[in-house]
Amino acid sequence: MPGSAADGYNAAIDIDFPAENHGLGKNHESGGTKMKKARTAVVLAAAASLLAFSVSAAEVKKGKTGEELFKQHCTMCHPDGGNIINAKKTLRGKDLKANNIKSAGDIVKVMRNPGPGMNKFDEKTLPDKEAKEIAEYVLKTFK
Ligand code: HEC
Repeated sequence: MPGSAADGYNAAIDIDFPAENHGLGKNHESGGTKMKKARTAVVLAAAASLLAFSVSAAEVKKGKTGEELFKQHCTMCHPDGGNIINAKKTLRGKDLKANNIKSAGDIVKVMRNPGPGMNKFDEKTLPDKEAKEIAEYVLKTFK
């Protein structure tokens, strides 16, 4: 019977073809899902770096004032120009004078080469310009 032979032939194709097609389709699908995930990740990463960039840009801008830098680096040990570790070495005029610290340059020297209990601020942490801004802030703020 030619009809049934053809049916058998078609059936064989039908069985083979969808199986292959199915396999391909699956690959395509999972590939597509991966692509979507990858794209989402890229978008998220871009958004995150944009956010990080705008935050750090704001920090740099704020960090330019001596006051902001002082709050960032010094306040924890010198709140209000005091000294939580050595009460005789506050940042107030009287103590500074008693310890022979007279100028912004002298304060920068302390930052570069501090006494016991104070951390060292090298050029990498505080470039000269920033160190000087802090020093000037200290001189004019704590009397
Ligand atoms: C971890 C705590 C700590 C931090 C942070 C710190 N200091 Fe000090 N600082 C001290 C201590 C302790 C001394 C006294 C050191 C000594 O015995 O000579 C001191 C002393 C000083 C003195 C000398 C004061 C005096 O009367 O002799 C100056 C000026 C000073 N610090 C400035 C700063 C500045 C500016 C910053 C921020 C950039 C800073 N310190 C951050 C702990 C700290």
